[in-house]
Amino acid sequence: MAKSRKLFSDAKKVIPSGVNSPVRYIEPYPFFVKRSEGSSLWDEDGNRYTDFCNGYGALLLGHTRKEIISTVSSQLKKGTLYTTPTALEIELSKLIIKNFPSIKKVRTVNTGAEATMTAIRLARGFTKKKKIIKFEGCYHGAYDTVLVKAGSGSAHNGISISDGGLDEVSKNTLVVPYNDINELEKTLTKNKDVAGLIIEPVLANMGLVLPEKNFLSDVRKITKQYDVPLIFDEVVNGFRISEGGAQKFFHIQPDITTLGKALGNGFTIAAVGGKKEIMNKLSPDGKVYQASTFAGNPISVTAAISSIKTINKIKNRLYPKLERYCKIMVDEIDDLATDYHIPHTINSISSMFQIFFTNQKVIDYKTAKKSNTKKFQKLFSNLLKNGIFIAPSQYETVFLSDAHTDADITKTLGAYGLSLKQVKN
Ligand SMILES: Cc1ncc(COP(=O)(O)O)c(C=O)c1O
Repeated sequence: MAKSRKLFSDAKKVIPSGVNSPVRYIEPYPFFVKRSEGSSLWDEDGNRYTDFCNGYGALLLGHTRKEIISTVSSQLKKGTLYTTPTALEIELSKLIIKNFPSIKKVRTVNTGAEATMTAIRLARGFTKKKKIIKFEGCYHGAYDTVLVKAGSGSAHNGISISDGGLDEVSKNTLVVPYNDINELEKTLTKNKDVAGLIIEPVLANMGLVLPEKNFLSDVRKITKQYDVPLIFDEVVNGFRISEGGAQKFFHIQPDITTLGKALGNGFTIAAVGGKKEIMNKLSPDGKVYQASTFAGNPISVTAAISSIKTINKIKNRLYPKLERYCKIMVDEIDDLATDYHIPHTINSISSMFQIFFTNQKVIDYKTAKKSNTKKFQKLFSNLLKNGIFIAPSQYETVFLSDAHTDADITKTLGAYGLSLKQVKN
């Protein structure tokens, strides 16, 4: 890893902490990637890694997916940015609406954070109210309103509220434990000024935490009862839990949905959509302002069209395959950890799973925090030494992709065996 070490030392001189996003920092230094293909990454030193981070869930179809590369390559020759409308944007919107029937109108943005920020502003503009309810451990982007008791990198780095964040902003964010409908009801009874509730239906930023039976339907019921717009942040869940996201899987219709990650299979694109009466509040027709130079650029839009078309074409093969691989991995890892007498619990759904080093069931932020993160770091480092790359934090999720093969799964389980043995010691 001589080249990566040297590159990290160079990077630290010109990039804060040497990385462009905090979770990318790995002790003692991250590996620097030269290229990727299918299920693999290659670093500057020539090492190959089987990728289970997959762009934090974005690469549902794997790296360098041929259908996407081919359509994007053709578009590159026709131009990269017009900042005036294209027929492509209508095609993409129709595809999103077809897959997510709760969405009647949709606007394309660049990142998940932009999508959730717009969703929240829309909820506030629509209701003319101020407060937002979010759940502990859910991550919706790196900005003040939602960077309160958030998961992902902020949980990993122990930052509950960021320095530089304004109390005046975060005081309008009410935080409720995930999977706790009674606390939600209390919060709604106490606060009359609630503009919206935002939730990751399946929480993928605290490790992986699943909604308990009836939790999501109760959240839907109670938000209707209190007339609070329900925002499903499906930036991770969308296209991953099913082609229609968590809302299709759990049969819940939110008022607003945000998408990102797998929408573009690695290209920079996200979206915010929902009921017509809410979406019509966006300017210039409405008075909720949202804008971006790069929104709807033909490269990202082409990538998203190609991703959705591919997903729709192969869905009958794709989702059962990912679920089967996920189950094989979870069962084997569970057996290995049990054989080594390591206290653990594993949560999984569809193409995602995570192991926590605790005996307790993990159902929320508090129980996720009971996991022994030192053991997780040992697991991560040993997997990496054995050529397997999972996200370097307990508070992230292992993601499968369509590019994974039987051989990848066998190799990975071998590496989990060796690594869990080290965790035990
Ligand atoms: C559920 C969820 N929402 C929003 C975001 C923010 O997306 P981005 O990093 O593209 O701004 C993330 C990022 O990980 C996410 O997991």
